[in-house]
Amino acid sequence: MNKSIIILAAGAGTRMKSTLPKVLHKISGKPMLYYSIKEALKISDDITVVLYHQAKLVEESIKKYFSKDNINFVIQDHENYPGTGGAVMGIKPKYEKTLVLNADMPLIQANELEKFDLEATIVMSVLKLEDASGYGRVVIENGNVKRIVEQKDANENELKITTANAGIYQFDTKFLLENLPKLTNSNAQKEYYITDLIEFAISQKRDLKPIFVSEENFKGVNSKVDLALAEVIHQNRIKNEFMSNGVIMRLPETIYIEEGVKIEGESIIENGVSLLSNAIIINSHVKTNSIVEDSILEDSDIGPMARVRPGSHLKGTHLGNFVEAKKAKLNGVKAGHLSYLGDCEIDEGTNVGAGCITCNYDGVNKHKTIIGKNVFIGSDCQLVAPVTIEDNVLLAAGTCVTKDIPSGNLAINRAPMKLVKNFYYKFFGKE
Ligand code: UD1
Ligand code: CA
Repeated sequence: MNKSIIILAAGAGTRMKSTLPKVLHKISGKPMLYYSIKEALKISDDITVVLYHQAKLVEESIKKYFSKDNINFVIQDHENYPGTGGAVMGIKPKYEKTLVLNADMPLIQANELEKFDLEATIVMSVLKLEDASGYGRVVIENGNVKRIVEQKDANENELKITTANAGIYQFDTKFLLENLPKLTNSNAQKEYYITDLIEFAISQKRDLKPIFVSEENFKGVNSKVDLALAEVIHQNRIKNEFMSNGVIMRLPETIYIEEGVKIEGESIIENGVSLLSNAIIINSHVKTNSIVEDSILEDSDIGPMARVRPGSHLKGTHLGNFVEAKKAKLNGVKAGHLSYLGDCEIDEGTNVGAGCITCNYDGVNKHKTIIGKNVFIGSDCQLVAPVTIEDNVLLAAGTCVTKDIPSGNLAINRAPMKLVKNFYYKFFGKE
């Protein structure tokens, strides 16, 4: 069924206690609003996002992820018509049915939204909870929904109700447009509530269908506690999918994987690992407490405690503990310990000794280090970029490389060691 979708994202989000608008707070690395739009786009070509608080910032942040052509951003007349009902006023949906989503529901999935495809004036979503605090309560009498009462307007008995309004509704568009102007703000928050339309439908003897949904998919996020709880659910979803597809995860509850990451083949992800942004892991082993951000790992192993920063591509490479790579193209490289490999290309068979640093930054610009095949880099070398080291070069431990090295050479620039006899005893005294 083709339907219009309105996503409510204009609220200030006071309960988040933050200067950042609520819908920009992130779940698994992406703003909450991103998820509502992503799922909405799967089922509709008429999507309106309602903004008000820091509208410009929200629009700019979201436009990064979607081409704007198929999303209409509109500004709510919040001064005159605050509230979830006010947010929908003035919008002209294209289709006969209009689905309204709160934007603070990052766990929503398109297949759950399809469950609203029923013939009724209003299809509303209901949660059965042990404790419904924070949600609007659904008042049910003789098995029929009567109305929704918001937490702030509820009396003592109503507060005990454990059936909650999940916050997604499908309206007959005609009914919606006819009844929105009838909303009033005579409630505790002096707001125009979309939820009052339920009572209107009942008094007009219209068809109302409640559908029961789970918090797993419909959880509303109002506070940072909710944000953390929703992220746990979202993380489990991401990790379970990878594990079902053959990825091994050690202590998965300690692993953090962002939306957008891909893991393929026989990969192993150990405890405490973070895979960020658009990291791609193919047939690789990421050991304890390592971080990979926006980089590709192919047939490689890293860690424990290695960090691969954006723009890197590792192929058949081993990075050991405390090795950091950034914009590094490493093909068949071994760097076992304590190194910084930034803005570099290193080729097959090259061994990077402990404590090797690419000095890529001169205080103003970044420069490249290029290292060929089968180079042996002794411990504690500095490679002052821009610099090229050709194939088959030996760098003696402690060498500071300041010019290009042609193939076949040994480079060494240590100061000669000198022995001063009995100096120890002169300095510290004899026992
Ligand atoms: C709302 C429902 C409540 C339901 C809950 C489910 C109302 C009156 N109450 O309450 O019954 O149990 O969601 O999560 O609808 N927004 C606007 N403009 C506004 C105010 C809010 O666009 O003027 C947006 C917010 O950005 C948010 C959504 O509407 O994405 C819901 O607003 P929120 O204040 O979180 O409503 P709740 O109190 O959670
Ligand atoms: Ca909410």
